[in-house]
Amino acid sequence: MSKVIISPSILSANFSNLEKDIISVEKAGAEWLHIDVMDGHFVPNITIGVPVVKSIRKITNLLLDVHLMIETPEKYIKPFADAGADIITFHYEATKEKTEEVIKLIKSCGIKAGLSIKPMTKPEEIEKYIPLADLILVMTVEPGFGGQKFMDECAKKLPYIKSRQPENSFLQVDGGINDVTSKICVSAGANSLVAGNYIFKSENVESAIRSLR
Ligand code: DX5
Ligand code: ZN
Repeated sequence: MSKVIISPSILSANFSNLEKDIISVEKAGAEWLHIDVMDGHFVPNITIGVPVVKSIRKITNLLLDVHLMIETPEKYIKPFADAGADIITFHYEATKEKTEEVIKLIKSCGIKAGLSIKPMTKPEEIEKYIPLADLILVMTVEPGFGGQKFMDECAKKLPYIKSRQPENSFLQVDGGINDVTSKICVSAGANSLVAGNYIFKSENVESAIRSLR
């Protein structure tokens, strides 16, 4: 079985010293860096944008896993790809019938395309898009904030999606992931874990990352 990929979410990092926190997770063995982009419309919170991604690109070799929690994501694909994103994930709830077009747009930038669903969205709704995306992100909390409690019922969507994904695709979970909930998700088929609070608020980042796998 291939290694489970850890993608620390910088939403829980120290924004006044991001470089230090990013280097610490890179040294601790994380493979990706999860960057949460929020617009105050799709979710009730505002976080970071293109210039921050561009600055982060200069200080790390980690693969940049950009999670767009925004309306009209198609307007921002090219700017985020140019800023150095390696994967761009957007929400099905924000694109609906435009979903295939947005997946193609991301791939045309030469990077990986991820499609995400919120807790209330059934996996059956995205069935036809599953084979087209490089990554499916199953939200295990309502998007918008770090530090929320894992919703068990969301993990039940994972086997349905896994069984329809092409080989070498990623199945990612995000929200409330810790050393216990990570195991639930991996045994249900997840191979990429996002964790914010659990990693950045821990005493020892390296042992926190190790305990997730
Ligand atoms: C929430 C974000 C998550 C968040 C996860 O909307 O998409 O990436 O940072 O934070 P934790 O791991 O603390 O639940
Ligand atoms: Zn996220």
